[in-house]
Amino acid sequence: MTKTTLTVIKADIGGFVGHSAIHPDLIVKAEEELQSSKDKGQIKDFRVLWVGDDMALVMTHDKGTNSKEIHKLGWDTFVEGTKVAKELKLYGAGQDLLSEGFSGNIKGMGPGCAEMEFEERTSEPFIVFLADKTSPGAWNFPAYKMFADPFNTPGLVIDENMHGGFEFDIMDVKNNKTITLKAPEESYKILAFIGAVETYVIKNIRRRGDKMPCATMSTDKLSLLAGKYIGKDDPAMIIRCQSGLPAVGEVTNPFAFPHLVPGWMRGSHTGPMMPCSFADSNPSRFDGPPRVIGAGFQIAEGMLVGPRDMFNDPGFDNARQKANDVADYMRMHGPFEPHRLPPDQMEYTTLPKIQKEVKERWMENSDGPSTKDLADQHAYQATKDDELE
Ligand code: 13P
Ligand code: 13P
Ligand code: MG
Ligand code: MG
Repeated sequence: MTKTTLTVIKADIGGFVGHSAIHPDLIVKAEEELQSSKDKGQIKDFRVLWVGDDMALVMTHDKGTNSKEIHKLGWDTFVEGTKVAKELKLYGAGQDLLSEGFSGNIKGMGPGCAEMEFEERTSEPFIVFLADKTSPGAWNFPAYKMFADPFNTPGLVIDENMHGGFEFDIMDVKNNKTITLKAPEESYKILAFIGAVETYVIKNIRRRGDKMPCATMSTDKLSLLAGKYIGKDDPAMIIRCQSGLPAVGEVTNPFAFPHLVPGWMRGSHTGPMMPCSFADSNPSRFDGPPRVIGAGFQIAEGMLVGPRDMFNDPGFDNARQKANDVADYMRMHGPFEPHRLPPDQMEYTTLPKIQKEVKERWMENSDGPSTKDLADQHAYQATKDDELE
């Protein structure tokens, strides 16, 4: 049986207006590039999608994951799009193209990438989720619900093909390490990690019985890669559905709860993730609230049948209303945490500059621990941490 690869590569190559949306000329350019690749037989099919100011190239081909040729196609398409963005002086033209030249693999270069190779089943429904104004850890909550929570996914209880459970590859993005943990028996361990969304992100999910790939997420964290803020790592996620996997409705249902995610204005605020239709995916209030779209496809012999706009459903109206109410509530905090992210998680790292500016003005307190006591305390804590390692 032939294998199909579904590759989603996304990048922000220029916002229109500001960081709110994408200019139609960029879509036209990307479609021209991918059509010419399809005409040459390099890819089987494609769609150009977007959410907010992020463009996503959804491509099918037979070259497997991590194909240099396909990643280069994605890169070159963004480079061509950036030329258009520069002509129009769009905001942050080429923002996600961190490196000047393409070195072989799009991962770690700026653009986000989620891809999966699989044998097509009799019917092959997928949903490609794309989010703007947040980071890959935003998928942890809904993905866990889909594949490990029977209160979301009755299929885990009803469908015997799911009784074996699912295994989760979880990446430690700060140390670039991955662990595989098994649901249901290790679900407390899974939650212990993935609840810390800025450090641990789900990378892949497989069905345990036959190792069938079911979910994959883009995990690139631009802020860490570049050492400073250049753009939020607005993520993509591919979920395979039905027939021994969570049904389409079990996959969309977690988004009926607009959970809080890091991102939003200047990539430095906590806000609710709002599920929205393609048409409503342009975040303009305080550059948000963070948004997610769901593009549903059936894949037939490598051809993409779709997309269906999955959140264009009044069933998500309450989630949108709740997201707006939560957005109002969070916004009332202004520059205070937990609306504002803690200093080490803010994407605009202006605090060190301010700290430097007023450095001389901090006076040591006459009572309480001295600077030396505190240094000793930190040193003691560090030895304790080392002992645990
Ligand atoms: P499948 O058995 O094809 O996965 O469909 C389950 C279902 O009824 C969806 O709600
Ligand atoms: P993007 O990551 O979507 O470009 O947004 C950046 C930002 O600063 C929003 O306020
Ligand atoms: Mg942007
Ligand atoms: Mg964006």
